[in-house]
Amino acid sequence: MFTIIIVDDYDEMSDRAFDVVKGIVTAKPNCVLGLATGSTPIGLYQRMIKDHEDNGTSYAEVRTVNLDEYLDLPKDHPESYYSFMHQNLFSGLDISMDSIHLPEDGADKALQCAKYNAVLDSLDIDLQLLGLGSNGHIGFNEPGTPLDSVTHVVKLKESTRQDNARFFSSLDEVPAHAITMGIASILRAKQVLVVASGENKAEAVAAMLNGPQTVDVPASALQMHPDVIVVVDKAAAKNL
Ligand code: F6R
Repeated sequence: MFTIIIVDDYDEMSDRAFDVVKGIVTAKPNCVLGLATGSTPIGLYQRMIKDHEDNGTSYAEVRTVNLDEYLDLPKDHPESYYSFMHQNLFSGLDISMDSIHLPEDGADKALQCAKYNAVLDSLDIDLQLLGLGSNGHIGFNEPGTPLDSVTHVVKLKESTRQDNARFFSSLDEVPAHAITMGIASILRAKQVLVVASGENKAEAVAAMLNGPQTVDVPASALQMHPDVIVVVDKAAAKNL
């Protein structure tokens, strides 16, 4: 079931998303947060850091699991999701580095997937944050991903590589593969928070909420989830 919140702009989207996260962290200081990377959650992460600094909201007992990571990109590369999370969130909070989890690259991909599935099996996600790909992907579950998928290696769609090329010096540098939490694991979270901003997300937002449930639009799988909060700005809500 979707609770849809339409706001004016990116800042207001970040404010409303922050209210949801703060509510959970306050009510359950040892909660498990599922986190995302990309441009959309940056405003939310800035608010979490500011609130921690100004009001002392503590993340000392919070555990986190991230959705995905690029393959064939060193962990210390500035655009790895490991670097992104440290730069944009973890370094500004009092969270323990033992409590954060991201899928990792490694020589044996099947082993890396099994390891991350074991992490996910050991933690019940209280709130899973999701951005939305312009092609409807969630995590790096690209169109065509089965609903019962768990952690797996994915070949990124060209549209996704092009969307993400803005973070790299050229399209050629955008990795071709990633490791991602699967759709089944996302659906197991107790609550899901989807954030989307800008007109280039409008089609995906409408397909997620009102389109048929289809593997062609991975976000439409959320139609099966009992508790999904969707915070979108006017531009992203254009087709609703
Ligand atoms: C990131 C992720 C992706 C992004 C999506 C939107 O961890 O899993 O699904 O959420 O590609 O990215 P932005 O926010 O950059 O538009």
